[in-house]
Amino acid sequence: MQATGHQAQLIEKLEEKTATIGIVGMGYVGLPLWLAFSDAGYRVIGLDIDAKKTEHIERGESYIRHVPAASIAQALRAGACASTDYSLANQADALILCVPTPLNAHREPDLRFVTDTMDALLPHLRAGQVVSLESTTYPGTTEEELRPRIESRGFSVGHDIFLLFSPEREDPGNARYSTRSIPKVCGGSTPACLAVGISLYRQAIASVVPVSSTRVAELTKLLENIHRAVNIGLVNEMKIIADRMGIDIHEVIRAAATKPFGFVPYYPGPGLGGHCIPIDPFYLTWKARAYGVHTRFIELAGEVNSAMPHWVIQKVTDALNVRAKPVHGSRVLVLGLAYKKNVDDVRETPSAELIQLLSEKGAIVDYSDPFVPTFVRMRKYAFAMNSVTLSESSIAAYDCVLLATDHDAFDYDLIVRHAQLIVDTRGVYQGAQANVVRA
Ligand SMILES: NC(=O)c1ccc[n+]([C@@H]2O[C@H](COP(=O)([O-])OP(=O)(O)OC[C@H]3O[C@@H](n4cnc5c(N)ncnc54)[C@H](O)[C@@H]3O)[C@@H](O)[C@H]2O)c1
Repeated sequence: MQATGHQAQLIEKLEEKTATIGIVGMGYVGLPLWLAFSDAGYRVIGLDIDAKKTEHIERGESYIRHVPAASIAQALRAGACASTDYSLANQADALILCVPTPLNAHREPDLRFVTDTMDALLPHLRAGQVVSLESTTYPGTTEEELRPRIESRGFSVGHDIFLLFSPEREDPGNARYSTRSIPKVCGGSTPACLAVGISLYRQAIASVVPVSSTRVAELTKLLENIHRAVNIGLVNEMKIIADRMGIDIHEVIRAAATKPFGFVPYYPGPGLGGHCIPIDPFYLTWKARAYGVHTRFIELAGEVNSAMPHWVIQKVTDALNVRAKPVHGSRVLVLGLAYKKNVDDVRETPSAELIQLLSEKGAIVDYSDPFVPTFVRMRKYAFAMNSVTLSESSIAAYDCVLLATDHDAFDYDLIVRHAQLIVDTRGVYQGAQANVVRA
């Protein structure tokens, strides 16, 4: 169908790169996207309610370990900016929302950040803009929460304003894939919206995958994350079985992964972490209830995964017991506070729960993480702790070293040579070693 009116003008601006792109929410997702659109040749505006972030950007500083400050400085030179002033949204032709979608205290979706952001943008909307939601959420959010808000201002979606859902697939710390090279799924509220969406993303992202609706795009993202959560649950259960049988699950996974088809390796760990996998599946659980469906796989995986920290603590307890030591009064060093290797992100990290459980049992706990110098206050946990520097003597001083996150930066030879006991939750140490217990 031939594009006309606002749609045609907007597509032309996007294709000619005369459009201005506004990114709302400059966190782990928003900042790399702001850079990707700047790199692609657009003027970009970053909006955030957190003035510390926008000030960092304006000074050319990065607050995310894997985002180089030099890239931010280069974007600034190309005319990019960041601000807390929502009125700048009026200058943007595209508004891309990358705000948090957490769970509330009852483990239900908390869409406040999304709806507050949309409400704050409403006074600055004008005909001829495209609004794209990237935050992970349940199917229906774009149509049920964003569309009526936009229409309340008298705009017609598909004629004046073009509405999309296009899920983010950022994988922080992954050196193989960047925002640009990860294919981008995109669904529109109407066919005209989708046509605009394709024009928007194909300039900055190598491959755009159009789907028939925003709801399909929303569920696609949830399927990806639920697939991960369920498979991690399965491999965590396999780890417990293998442990009882005296088999090293990591050796089994390495062997199974040599099968060239039909097997995808997932790795067990001390529990789920990060902003996505422990949270997103429950967005679907909540929505499925409205359709009378109980999400059994999701609940079961959640049960297995959330029991992992307790299982690991039991392994620590047993390993100390063999050495005639009670947990109470033992000195334990937790290696790695970030939720996964080589990143500085501590959201929902299982290490915090491990520290809490060990402290409750009377252990004297420290942690070491080269990327997290100080324990940052979390929603559930607040410990006054600083990262311990690893040395022969500091390692040897602990009754137990609990390897929770396998950062490449750790000197694993040094650790195994000097630790009295290592409880390894990541399969770093292969083969039998007298001071290593797998968990
Ligand atoms: N981090 C990831 O790897 C990842 C991957 C895929 C999807 N996601 C999804 O992307 C979304 C964002 O995640 P993130 O990791 O970037 O979160 P984040 O917490 O790093 O960043 C969110 C930003 O939004 C800002 N913000 C909150 N309310 C705002 C408002 N009303 N107006 C403007 N800014 C506001 C916050 O200050 C913060 O800077 C979530 O839905 C998440 O599930 C994240």
